[in-house]
Amino acid sequence: MDKVSINGNDIYEVDEEMEALIEAADLDGKVPEAEPQRQYYFIKKARRYVDELAKELGRRPLACSVAFGCQMNARDSEKILGVLKAVGYEETDSEKAEFVIYNTCTVRDNADQRVYGRLGYAGSLKKKNPHMKIGVCGCMMQEQVAVEKIKKSYRQVDLIFGTHNLFKFAELLCTMFESDRMVIDIWKGTNEIVEDLPVARKYPFKSGVNITFGCDNFCTYCIVPYVRGRERSRDPKDIVREVEKLVADGVKEVMLLGQNVNSYGTGLPDDKKISFAQLLNEVCKVEGLERVRFMTPHPKDLSQELIDVIKANPKVARHIHLPLQSGSTEILRRMNRKYTREQYLDLALKIRRELPDAAITTDIIVGFPGETNADVDDTIDIVKQVKYDNAFTFIYSKRTGTPAAGFEQVLSEEEIKSNFDRLLKVVQETAHAQSARFNDTDQRVLVESLNEQDASLVTGRMSNNTLVHFEGGEDLIGQFVDVHLDECKGFYYLGHRI
Ligand code: SAH
Ligand code: SF4
Ligand code: F3S
Repeated sequence: MDKVSINGNDIYEVDEEMEALIEAADLDGKVPEAEPQRQYYFIKKARRYVDELAKELGRRPLACSVAFGCQMNARDSEKILGVLKAVGYEETDSEKAEFVIYNTCTVRDNADQRVYGRLGYAGSLKKKNPHMKIGVCGCMMQEQVAVEKIKKSYRQVDLIFGTHNLFKFAELLCTMFESDRMVIDIWKGTNEIVEDLPVARKYPFKSGVNITFGCDNFCTYCIVPYVRGRERSRDPKDIVREVEKLVADGVKEVMLLGQNVNSYGTGLPDDKKISFAQLLNEVCKVEGLERVRFMTPHPKDLSQELIDVIKANPKVARHIHLPLQSGSTEILRRMNRKYTREQYLDLALKIRRELPDAAITTDIIVGFPGETNADVDDTIDIVKQVKYDNAFTFIYSKRTGTPAAGFEQVLSEEEIKSNFDRLLKVVQETAHAQSARFNDTDQRVLVESLNEQDASLVTGRMSNNTLVHFEGGEDLIGQFVDVHLDECKGFYYLGHRI
């Protein structure tokens, strides 16, 4: 990103093209109604407030953007940070900052609890820094009870907004600066997708790219459709244009993001409608892009067309995250997953046959209301047959407002915990055996970081998403290199550069 110096002292981090559009905003004229022009206006306006603060502090104010949730939540936090940098804040990882914003997740109860803990901590910091402002946004804010609780017990919060109006963040910042009360703006939903707003990426060499927003699947345990709204697809041209821009800015790997990427395109006008497989193919054509990932494909509609596109495109990462949730057809029916255990198994084994070098990973929920020990046996059986390369296992968490919240539990907490433990044991055994199959092979990896424990090592990610540690320096970060895998350590490898 270019650093543009304005008035000789303040620095706003946006690219030149966007800077010109922000500069063109007329603060003495009418507030534009159309987006994104309206937000450019408010970015320019917010700069005045941040400038004033900078003068008072004698330095640029610091901003910290914390993400609690999935890849989409992380991507949203990059958009938030993009606006904060565009208005003149300097990024920091520490919450000892002038603006801290928590992007919340509410998929399970423990995600909620973490947020409350952090708000308490931020409140204690605010007592020491009179300039500090605290924002809370994201999925949890789409639930009225959470907002009520913050209003009542976390008065230190200055700004609350939800998932649907994230694009208005610059405008909300201005409202916050102009108000001495808690600013709250929550929308019930929206059809709007606003393009061309600032983004500050966490990694210079890889990036998430939204392809759909929201979810229409309504799995009975899941809060996401209620907090993210109805499914909307971005125009394929906007997606490809974003990927091209990212590549021009140094990105080598993208991850296409949606709650169910397979349903990409539904709702687009006929002249723009393409399938996810077609979109993936188009993205692969972007010159200079080296690797494409996607998350998450729903097993109910993973097409042969998609498998064929993956097969034909070496750029597509050899990793399919295929959430199982349960291996019992009856539980799947009650979860509203729309596939049977046999259909899932057929698909997973087909992927194993057709894409033999691809890792298959999954998500599994234990303790869904009504689940019996025999249902868990069915789940374990699938794990043994598919032999997942990795699996995320969760204990069911009741989400108020979802259909499953009204379903009856038949097992005790202890029984659920014991089912969880026996599932985890099988998952670990099969995953270990599975990843060892790449021992002694050569793999192309994207180097992501220095090794946390040993600074003489770097950590790279294979096409199938497995990590490998090998000797190397900081100069390799962001590069693709070829590595020989010497030793499998369970979920990761030790290797050397070839
Ligand atoms: N759209 C993705 C999932 C997003 S949520 C999909 O359909 O696969 C990520 C994971 O959280 C889910 O796959 C599920 O395993 C888990 N999850 C969702 N709601 C949950 C709940 N109420 N309790 C426990 N785990 C849950
Ligand atoms: Fe939730 Fe199901 Fe949608 Fe995934 S597909 S986000 S689990 S409702
Ligand atoms: Fe959490 Fe929202 Fe993602 S609830 S998992 S941050 S879509």
